[in-house]
Amino acid sequence: MTGWISTVSIFRDTLFSGKVALITGGATGIGRGIAEALARHGADLALLSRKADNLASTAAEIEATTGRRCLALPADVRNPEAVDSAVARTITELGRLDLLVNNAAGNFPCASEDLSPNGFGAVIDIDAKGTWHASRSVFRGWMKEHGGQILNISATLHYGGTPGQLHVAAAKAAVDAMTRTLAVEWGPLGVRVNAIAPGPIGDTEGARRLFPGPLADRLRALIPTRRLGSIDDIVNLALFVLSEAASNLNGTILVSDGGLCLAGRFPLEPESRPGV
Ligand code: HXC
Repeated sequence: MTGWISTVSIFRDTLFSGKVALITGGATGIGRGIAEALARHGADLALLSRKADNLASTAAEIEATTGRRCLALPADVRNPEAVDSAVARTITELGRLDLLVNNAAGNFPCASEDLSPNGFGAVIDIDAKGTWHASRSVFRGWMKEHGGQILNISATLHYGGTPGQLHVAAAKAAVDAMTRTLAVEWGPLGVRVNAIAPGPIGDTEGARRLFPGPLADRLRALIPTRRLGSIDDIVNLALFVLSEAASNLNGTILVSDGGLCLAGRFPLEPESRPGV
């Protein structure tokens, strides 16, 4: 839980009324936070995730707390046919599809020399190909004719060299490239494509894997704002980017990391990193 529902939003309650959003990886973490907030501000939702149990309970909780529709669509973003089916079901059951949040991502720390081809491929398939599968499907199924917005959740790991993250850096660089290319190609058809690049965000599976225990404290000391980001930091930025207040943003990648990637002190030295 992000705590979003119990806090006061700076955005108006009806910001996304009449809109339908599809969020990949929407059952947990940042994806769940964005999903809850969109519903709290009037959108109906479809959540797509591999883990059916998490998905069903998250969708039920969001429906109960917000009163909005929330479809649970078990599917793997690596499977383009499954994504097409989920998109088709969203449009059939909710009547439209205005917003896509490409949030599903894979990650584990692993030194490059130990990374198997299949391990590299798993993360490329989830992050890069999954983003393409969902974007392609919503564009062909709805946005080409009606317009819409796509928000990709990227990262900052590839701005420098992050030991143990070769696969993730390569995948997120591809996500950034797709963000810029699709913004130019689809912009004339009324589709805005942007990305948010979070730095380390506390209380997420990614942080638990990459910065366990005392590493989180050491990392915090390197961040100019001296705090890890929160899920709500990303949620607030996502609401802004997806709203009409950001209607001149297209192909933009917004970094939310407390200034860490500017400080030139990330990552922690390789010897202290798990898996490296
Ligand atoms: C080395 C590993 C591994 C590990 C998996 N593999 N975990 N290799 N170290 N810890 C290898 C496997 O050995 C296998 O290769 C290949 O990856 C596929 O593994 P499977 O278990 O069969 O695949 P699958 O279940 O489909 O997916 C595994 C997974 C996924 C990609 C690790 O479960 C996952 O990513 N879960 C975490 C989700 C997550 O944390 N998302 C948030 C990301 S945050 P072989 O050769 O053995 O067959 C993020 C941004 C972070 O990305 C930014 C922070 C600043």
